Amino acid sequence: MTTTSAQTTTSAQTAAQPPVTVTVIGLGEMGLALAHAFLDGGHPTTVWNRTPEKADSLVAKGAVRAATVREAVAAGSVVVVSVKGATTARELLDASGDALSGRAVVNLTDGTSAEARAVADWVEGRGAQYLHGQIMTIAPGVGGADSVVFYGGSASVHDRFRPVLRRIGGRGTLIGEDAGVPALYGMAVHGTMWGTLNGFLHAAALLSSEGIEVKRFLDDAQASMAALLASFPMIADEVDRGEYATEYGALQHHRPSVEDLVRESAARNIDAEFPRYTLELVNKAVEEGFGGDSYARLVEHFRK
Ligand SMILES: NC(=O)c1ccc[n+]([C@@H]2O[C@H](COP(=O)([O-])OP(=O)(O)OC[C@H]3O[C@@H](n4cnc5c(N)ncnc54)[C@H](OP(=O)(O)O)[C@@H]3O)[C@@H](O)[C@H]2O)c1
Repeated sequence: MTTTSAQTTTSAQTAAQPPVTVTVIGLGEMGLALAHAFLDGGHPTTVWNRTPEKADSLVAKGAVRAATVREAVAAGSVVVVSVKGATTARELLDASGDALSGRAVVNLTDGTSAEARAVADWVEGRGAQYLHGQIMTIAPGVGGADSVVFYGGSASVHDRFRPVLRRIGGRGTLIGEDAGVPALYGMAVHGTMWGTLNGFLHAAALLSSEGIEVKRFLDDAQASMAALLASFPMIADEVDRGEYATEYGALQHHRPSVEDLVRESAARNIDAEFPRYTLELVNKAVEEGFGGDSYARLVEHFRK
């Protein structure tokens, strides 16, 4: 590809531009990791935390400790918020008064989708732009090339501050303009994770009651476990279409296996509540006449 002189001038100018100034409100486990990542990336960083001493390690690295939220918000082109709870996030931003107007807010504070939307509306009502981020890593993963962040809100903030956002996680995705959706994405991952982990840990209890090492099981059952994860796109497709007809492996064929798991668990004095709940769902669907449908049919139970 050839480069025009105009393109060369533009990239040189971009390279010469001073790094974006960042403000971080909230220096808990996550906020601290974020502020360190911005400093490491060469961004002049101003921080504020209710407990000011938590900024000591950052100040030693060159961060500015703001005395007030207002001072902090006024210092950064982009204001990153990471505190406990949407109400706290909003109250802190409110304390910045008219300094908020014209700023770009990237709120990484977890909550429900409705809470994120409410904060977004409130921030925009104060003349600032809003981007919500759902961080899918723990603090040591901040800045990692594979660390995932789901974003929703202002595309302009997302595009303008790309280099800053890259410092949060290398795999950031702007899902859309709705600030509430990242929370739903996060919950979808976490909900699947907890359900899967509960199933796996129940299985681990079952195996270890027989003296079988769980690691050994994983080695032997690798292909079965991989096939399980590989089935998600097919299930997603059935759910999206609302069509569950299947030729093989229907709910009526799951039922005896779930019954066996319940009986085996009970016989070994292992908590059978988890498979029993599965059995309840399967039984209900079969009794309602859906025994010939695929397992994905159970989404209709949760929809109710
Ligand atoms: N830690 C993680 O691995 C992780 C991963 C993904 C997402 N997150 C999300 O990141 C956000 C921050 O989590 P965290 O783990 O950093 O929490 P944390 O360690 O418990 O810190 C909480 C932060 O909120 C501040 N805060 C709480 N109540 C406040 C109030 N009433 N007024 C002013 N400041 C207040 C705390 O200030 P003080 O220092 O003064 O107490 C602190 O800065 C949460 O939404 C969390 O769900 C965390």
